[in-house]
Formats: sequence, C-alpha cells, structure tokens
Amino acid sequence: MKKIVQKFSVPFTYPVCFTHRVFDPSNKTLSSILRPPSAGPARALVVIDAGLDDASKRLTRQIERYFRAHRSRLCLVRKPVTVPGGENAKNGWSEVRGIMTAAGAAHLDRHSYVIAVGGGSVLDMVGFAASLVHRGLRFVRIPTTVLSQNDAGVGVKNGMNAGGAKNFAGTFAPPFAVIDDFDFLKTLPQSEWIGGVAEAFKVAIIKDKPFFTYLCKHAAALRERDQAVMEKVVTKTAALHLRHIASSGDPFELGSARPLDFGHWAAHRLELMSDFTLGHGTAVAIGIALDSTYAMLKKLITPTERDAVIRGLTDCGLPVWSPLLERTGARGEPDVLAGLEQFREHLGGRLCITLPAPLGAKREVHTINLPLMKKAIGLLCPT
Ligand SMILES: NC(=O)c1ccc[n+]([C@@H]2O[C@H](COP(=O)([O-])OP(=O)(O)OC[C@H]3O[C@@H](n4cnc5c(N)ncnc54)[C@H](O)[C@@H]3O)[C@@H](O)[C@H]2O)c1
Ligand SMILES: [Zn+2]
Repeated sequence: MKKIVQKFSVPFTYPVCFTHRVFDPSNKTLSSILRPPSAGPARALVVIDAGLDDASKRLTRQIERYFRAHRSRLCLVRKPVTVPGGENAKNGWSEVRGIMTAAGAAHLDRHSYVIAVGGGSVLDMVGFAASLVHRGLRFVRIPTTVLSQNDAGVGVKNGMNAGGAKNFAGTFAPPFAVIDDFDFLKTLPQSEWIGGVAEAFKVAIIKDKPFFTYLCKHAAALRERDQAVMEKVVTKTAALHLRHIASSGDPFELGSARPLDFGHWAAHRLELMSDFTLGHGTAVAIGIALDSTYAMLKKLITPTERDAVIRGLTDCGLPVWSPLLERTGARGEPDVLAGLEQFREHLGGRLCITLPAPLGAKREVHTINLPLMKKAIGLLCPT
C-alpha cells in the first residue's frame, strides 16, 4: 500500500467589534472592515431580519444612506433583502435558496460580501447560504438580539432546521467579521432581551464563577433593562465564547464534547416540542435549570449552588419550568428525554453531556441516569 498523509492547518482570524449606531455615516466600523478589491469598491449584499425592520422601519434607508456616504469603498449591489425573522427563517430550504439566488443574480464572487443584520436565526440561515455559494462568500454578521450578540453571532457555525431536527443542515464557516451594535437591543421585546441572558448563565456556570456571581447580583438590573449592565454582560459572554472556540482545541467540533451546549439537549428538544413558540434563550434557561438539578442529584454541585442557579435565573425573569417537561411520549416516558438521543446523533460518537462540577467548572458525562433525570424534572415542577 502506498500512502500520502496530507496535513495542513489554516489559521482563522476575524474581528468582533462592539459599537453603537453602526449605520450612522460617521461610524467607520463597517467601512473599514470591508476590503475593496484591487479595482472598485467592495460589493455587498445586505439581508435584514423582518422582525427588526418592523421594529426599526428606517433601517433599510439608513443602510442605503451609509453605503452612499462610503461609496468610494463600498457598493450595495441591490436594495437590502428582507427575510422573515425568528426560527421560521431557518425552518427548511426556502429562505436559503432565496439568498443563494439573490447572491447569484448580483454576481457576487468570493471577494464579495454578504452582510446579515438580525437575530441568531437569520444569521444562521444567511451564513449557511453564503457558505454554499461559490463554496463560501465573505460573511459579515451584525447580530441584533442579546443572544446573537453574545453567542450565536460570534462563533463559527451556520445552519438550518430540517427533518424535525434543529440545525440538521449546516456548515462550519468562520465569519469575515462580526459587529455588535448595542443600540439594536433597545427594540427587543422583553422575552428576547432577557432570553439571551440564559447563554450568559450557561457559560458562567461551567466556566466562570465570578461572572455567575455578577449575573446574580445584577439580575434585577438586567430584568429592568439596564442598558449599561447588559452591554457588559454581552461583551463578557461573547469574550468567553470566543475564548472557548479559540482555545478548546476543537473549534469545528470534531470530537463529541460540546461544553458550550450545557443545558442544550433539553432546550433543543423543548423548542421542537413547542413548535418553536418557546424561544431558544427561554428553552436554554429551562435546560440549565434541569441539568443543574440533575447535577445536584449526582452530587456534582451542592444544593446551595443549585438553588443559586435557580434563583439567579428566576430573578432575571427567566423561566425554569415548562409544562412540556411533563408531556409523555408513546412509551409513557417524558418526551423531552428523546432529546438525549437527538443530541448524541447531532454530535456524533457517544453521548457527551456537560454538567457543572462544581459551580464555575464543568465535567463531561457519557451516560444519564434516567430515573434521576425524571426526579430532576419532578423537583422543578412548581406544584
Ligand atoms: N450558530 C450558532 O453558533 C448558534 C448558537 C446559539 C444559538 N443559535 C441559534 O440562534 C437562534 C436564536 O436566535 P435569537 O435568540 O437571536 O432569536 P431569533 O433570531 O429567533 O429572533 C427572535 C425574534 O426577535 C426579532 N428581532 C431580532 N432583532 C430584533 C431587534 N433588535 N428588535 C426587535 N426584534 C428583533 C426577530 O425577528 C425574531 O422575531 C436559534 O435558532 C439558535 O439555534 C445559533
Ligand atoms: Zn444556545
């Protein structure tokens, strides 16, 4: 047998910028990031989350004005495309196809840009479409929800839902750049504003106890929409996510461990069971409460630590229970438990669930004691 072992590595670098009023013509963040090719300005297709456009009608005009003001460096290839916001954006192929068609019609090449402005669902879907056209266009994310600014928008994954599974189709494709504009957060409904804080708790509980303490201390401020506190929380959470991706040794998740998905096996299942009426952040809060309760039953964290998690989440106004947790499937078992096998299949290899052990640190486990998990569900039940 002859064998050639091919080996190379590709370093990835992308900026994650934090700003205000990104489309004010005097703000140079975007114009300095997009690199014009050797001849002419940088060509860009902009895609806007319809939910966002409803919340800020003037956005399309602002974007057009911004590109006009920077026309020596930037060219808007067409009027911004608006796509449905929320999970509908990534349910099935239709929106993905629409973006690919728009990119083709505008003759975007691999040095052109697709800029998505919106929540995590729209960013996932547009990023997926952009990663497929010509095997990858330059993709810039401008996340507009707390969750997308601190988590979904800063990482390396794109995707869409298909066949009844979250993120069934998707790609690992680092963005060209990310720009978090905190002003977008002001128009969020309360559920989306606070939902994103669940991802801050998630990463704090398994990685950073002082940050967990900070979140608990500022729970009321977060609930009452203190913009300055939220900006700190978003920046810190994004930094923790970015550090993990850069330093975990597995940015493209080739192994089975996925610590950033603490609480997510149940969350993804609950989202599906609710027909996506439960938002991702809300579902993550319930998933964190469930897995923290299970971790307490497994003696990985103390009852005091578990109670601090539940109190921190509830003080923020995040839920720690859904009646869906009690819904039973065909064999009389809680339906949510089907999320364990779906999670394993999505990761590949053997089941790997991250739990806090102790608070501020993590442990990976490969089996779940189902009677104990059912007991954890019972302990969360408010009645
Ligand atoms: N790729 C990743 O690494 C990653 C990580 C975590 C989560 N996600 C995905 O992100 C998605 C959730 O994203 P999300 O929590 O940002 O919610 P979302 O994108 O579903 O948006 C929620 C709602 O808020 C609206 N909206 C967006 N910005 C707004 C604004 N500024 N003002 C008013 N309304 C606004 C949207 O139109 C939508 O109706 C899920 O599909 C989840 O799986 C992806
Ligand atoms: Zn998440």
